[in-house]
Amino acid sequence: MKLDGKNALITGAGSGMGRATALLFAREGAKVAAIDIDEKAATETASQIERNGGKAVAIRADVSVEADAKQMVETAVQRLGAPGVLFNNAGIEGESAFIAKMTADAFDRVIAINLRGVFLGMKYVLPPMVDAGGGSIINQASIAGMVAVRGGAAYSAAKAGVIAMTRVAAFEYARYNVRVNCICPGGIETEMAKRIRRGAEPDPKAVRRISVLGRMGEPEEIANMALFLASSDSSFATGAPFVVDGGWTIS
Ligand SMILES: NC(=O)c1ccc[n+]([C@@H]2O[C@H](COP(=O)([O-])OP(=O)(O)OC[C@H]3O[C@@H](n4cnc5c(N)ncnc54)[C@H](O)[C@@H]3O)[C@@H](O)[C@H]2O)c1
Repeated sequence: MKLDGKNALITGAGSGMGRATALLFAREGAKVAAIDIDEKAATETASQIERNGGKAVAIRADVSVEADAKQMVETAVQRLGAPGVLFNNAGIEGESAFIAKMTADAFDRVIAINLRGVFLGMKYVLPPMVDAGGGSIINQASIAGMVAVRGGAAYSAAKAGVIAMTRVAAFEYARYNVRVNCICPGGIETEMAKRIRRGAEPDPKAVRRISVLGRMGEPEEIANMALFLASSDSSFATGAPFVVDGGWTIS
């Protein structure tokens, strides 16, 4: 098993890619802190892990709130032990609006969760991770941090910020044996994607525009990349954005 003896904190673990990653990490031997603003959803993920014979705790936290970020790390350390892996995955799509129509509050909310939340997760996990001798941090960015998406000024800015902050964190903490990478998914079929489509089925023409493979990605296909980055399989990778986008950005 690739994560035997490791403790992994995963934010946004109540749904989508966070839940898929929590389940995969547990199957690979990690003890998992399933963190989410939606306590019921986090508990469901932790229960699924325990039903499969794994070890997990559910923690409610809003990653954009500093006291919550501090408490989620403290609780995870108390319940599981020193953190070896952090997947800073929680995020929201926010409102889609052209810049002149986007409210400053809507802009701030996306930045608070998708960028500040990633900063706070790293800020509070790094001290115990460094004390434990190192680890792997994975931040959830997006292709939207690399290419323009109409209506996504706040979202794209936050995700580009995550890519930039990942490089800084990798540079600062390499000396402490901490690797920091980020994932840039393309269109992945999750609750977020369904909300963006307002519940409609994926339109095959629209899907072909964002994927040369002609389909949406599955959450498990991102979980597999997170596992690679969490494990020693990626021991020479740090500071890098890992694109998993069905070829969105090649065409
Ligand atoms: N779905 C896509 O196509 C796609 C593409 C690229 C990147 N992403 C990113 O991947 C991540 C996961 O998205 P998903 O598609 O699995 O979405 P999702 O909506 O299925 O899951 C997101 C989870 O994050 C939780 N969450 C939201 N705000 C939170 C907060 N403030 N504190 C703690 N938890 C919070 C939600 O309750 C939910 O359980 C996000 O960062 C998203 O921006 C998604």
